[in-house]
Amino acid sequence: MSTPMSTPAPLLSLRGVHAHYGKSHILHGIDLSIGRGEVVSLLGRNGAGRSTTMKSIMGLVDVTGGSIAIEGRDITNKRPFEIARAGLGFVPEEREVFANLTVDENLRMGEQPKRGDAPFWSVDQMFDYFPRLKERRGTKAGNLSGGEQQMLTMCRSLLGNPKIMLIDEPTEGLAPKIVEVIADVIRDIHKRGVSVVLVEQKLTIALKVSTRVSVMGHGRIVFEGPPAQLHERQDVVQEWLAV
Ligand SMILES: Nc1ncnc2c1ncn2[C@@H]1O[C@H](COP(=O)(O)OP(=O)(O)O)[C@@H](O)[C@H]1O
Ligand SMILES: [Mg+2]
Repeated sequence: MSTPMSTPAPLLSLRGVHAHYGKSHILHGIDLSIGRGEVVSLLGRNGAGRSTTMKSIMGLVDVTGGSIAIEGRDITNKRPFEIARAGLGFVPEEREVFANLTVDENLRMGEQPKRGDAPFWSVDQMFDYFPRLKERRGTKAGNLSGGEQQMLTMCRSLLGNPKIMLIDEPTEGLAPKIVEVIADVIRDIHKRGVSVVLVEQKLTIALKVSTRVSVMGHGRIVFEGPPAQLHERQDVVQEWLAV
């Protein structure tokens, strides 16, 4: 299949993606397209399939139908490290740090050489974003607070110099002050040219940082549009988002 030079393939595209856990059919044909410079929020109630969508992209859940591509190159069901190498960073819901290593050691393990045209990130930049991590650089990651572990997980992913970051509920359970810090960092990495797919339960944050939102319900995309358009569609908000 060839793509004309005049219409570059989107950075990330999902076409009719299906996924199962055992016999449970979870994703029912997800279409999603993320361009350069976009922040797309995946919204929905718990169980809608947002995390499963991210895991399908990352090769952590089997895709049982449809396809996923980065810049037009197929990555469907490739191994997670190959997908990461293609330019995808993932910050899972479960904060992933090496508990027995210090903050510094965790960061050093995440460092990667510069990748093509993707922005480059250094450990010093991480300390600029999160001075708290600098203060705690000698502390074992297992002894950090939940918020600090979330920051560290984001940093480790950024240090891989991704083209796209998938960030799953980064502010879940965090104090309002830390939520603001994380929202600012997401805005800044976007400004520097990394596209972002965000799962965020706090609608105010999601609408503030996103260029586009996709609402999911029962494993399907039920609305897609700019944040302002969702604001006008209170029917969608009531049916698929209100708790
Ligand atoms: N490991 C798993 N095994 C079986 N079912 C799962 C598993 N993870 C999630 N599910 C189910 O898949 C559906 C979608 O879950 P998920 O993608 O985590 O939703 P969300 O992230 O939107 O809250 C839910 O019904 C959930 O119970
Ligand atoms: Mg989830």
